[in-house]
Amino acid sequence: MNILHLMSELDKEINRRRTFAIISHPDAGKTTLTEKLLLFGGAIHVAGAVKSNKIKKTATSDWMEIEKQRGISVATSVMGFEYENYKINILDTPGHKDFAEDTYRTLTAVDSVIIVVDSAKGVEEQTRRLMEVCRMRKTPVMVFMNKMDRDGKDPFDLLDEIEEELKIQVCPLSWPIDSGQNFKGVYNIYDEKLDLYTPSKQTITQSVEFKDINSPELENHIGEKLAAKLREDIELVDGVYPQLDHDAYLRGEVAPVFFGSALNNFGVKELLDCFVKIAPCPRPVQAVERVVKPQEETFSGFIFKIHANMDPNHRSCIAFVKICSGKFERNVYYKHVRLERNIRFSSPTAFMAQKKETVDEAYPGDIIGLPDTGNFKIGDTLTSGEDLHFKGLPSFSPEMFKYIENDDPMKSKQLQKGIDQLMDEGVAQLFVNQFNNRKIIGTVGQLQFEVIQYRLLHEYGAQCRWEPINLFKACWIESDNKDQLNDFKKRKAQFMAKDKEGRDVFLADSNYVLMMAQQDFKDLKFHFTSEF
Ligand code: G4P
Repeated sequence: MNILHLMSELDKEINRRRTFAIISHPDAGKTTLTEKLLLFGGAIHVAGAVKSNKIKKTATSDWMEIEKQRGISVATSVMGFEYENYKINILDTPGHKDFAEDTYRTLTAVDSVIIVVDSAKGVEEQTRRLMEVCRMRKTPVMVFMNKMDRDGKDPFDLLDEIEEELKIQVCPLSWPIDSGQNFKGVYNIYDEKLDLYTPSKQTITQSVEFKDINSPELENHIGEKLAAKLREDIELVDGVYPQLDHDAYLRGEVAPVFFGSALNNFGVKELLDCFVKIAPCPRPVQAVERVVKPQEETFSGFIFKIHANMDPNHRSCIAFVKICSGKFERNVYYKHVRLERNIRFSSPTAFMAQKKETVDEAYPGDIIGLPDTGNFKIGDTLTSGEDLHFKGLPSFSPEMFKYIENDDPMKSKQLQKGIDQLMDEGVAQLFVNQFNNRKIIGTVGQLQFEVIQYRLLHEYGAQCRWEPINLFKACWIESDNKDQLNDFKKRKAQFMAKDKEGRDVFLADSNYVLMMAQQDFKDLKFHFTSEF
């Protein structure tokens, strides 16, 4: 096969890929929307399959035992499916805020995002935080305004709320006709048609082409009063919101908005049809060394997630790789850049809806799972040989801290191994206090401590105990002024720690102490993420 042919094949595969995440505040309807999207892709065949037996969340996407017990989506997984010649990869994210860090990392592996907002509740806390990460990375976002079958807020107010709270311009591409019990459907601005609503979990929307909203035909469908209101609304929409600027969307400056009801499968296909057309295919990725384009012939990818124990019978990990460039092939040697070693993979898996299967090849945008026995850490790079390091997988300063102590002296090795592996997986962060050598675990939420304790016991046979520590923030410090840095480290010896990469971390026990330190040591930089 000549190179030109190979290149065009690669281009074709890249152009048809859409890799994205759905994010929302818990209960806004992320699982329901995911399920409906999978239905359109033929990836599942019955509504309800994704979370059928209602230990809620034994969703397709959730693998971990602990999740069944707690009913919280702990795992982040991948669901791939084909839709009208597009290859779609949905990366699921845990809704619970205690796993926010997991979600942040997943957002480094997507090319765009769909945000689900509950139209009765408007923008909620978790959505705000996740949007900050999208903004930081300039990720293109679309909004699905869900639950229009319930009495919700006024659509103009909702859009104002999005603009203010999520700090992004909006561009409505559909417009609701009434809401709650009187919900009649939407006018699809993007496709110029009227989508009429009949409450049902399975129906496909009845659509009427409607290029001219002033046509008297409108009254026949929705009655005089609503027709007048819709015309008025659309006039206002035209006046207030600019036309969709595709480039501005791709730059993450404008969010197209669709209204609908995921539960009733209304407005979902319209969202998907527009999404595949306008959402970006895999884009160039910044590595420390250079920008890596997906169309490059040589393979590269990075690990954004490590998942242990998906198969309860074997204690193995799966490292999730996002492919950035070239074509990945089974049984070909690739360079593990950190270990400076060539490794080949005989059973890489792809994730197609509810099942995983071995794949022979994969393309940029795809996520593959590599069975792993401890070779990988979050952020590791695989390449065809070049030394590349992808940026943008920072650790964030944790919000809760505890000392971790061994509760079974016979199992200290197991505990050590368990802690190391869980930290490599990115479950939480480990800091070792340089003064007393005690280990401190930092997390985003209380639940992670429980997950760690549970997993240490069930996967490693190790028992741990938590002891309180009074800490406000951990921050990474650096300075060009070596004398000042050393002076600081000496004076704050009791509060100095190393992270797992051996970097200096200052453990401030209060906001006041941190402020004073920043004031007194002007040449020191205090960072709240590990990437600076
Ligand atoms: P999440 O993944 O974002 O946490 O939300 P999920 O899809 O689980 O949806 C949360 C609840 O909202 C579910 O109800 C779901 O049925 C409901 N829901 C989702 N979309 C719509 C919609 O368009 N309209 C209405 N009225 N409800 C919607 P639940 O009572 O928690 O579960 P279930 O027993 O109904 O499945």
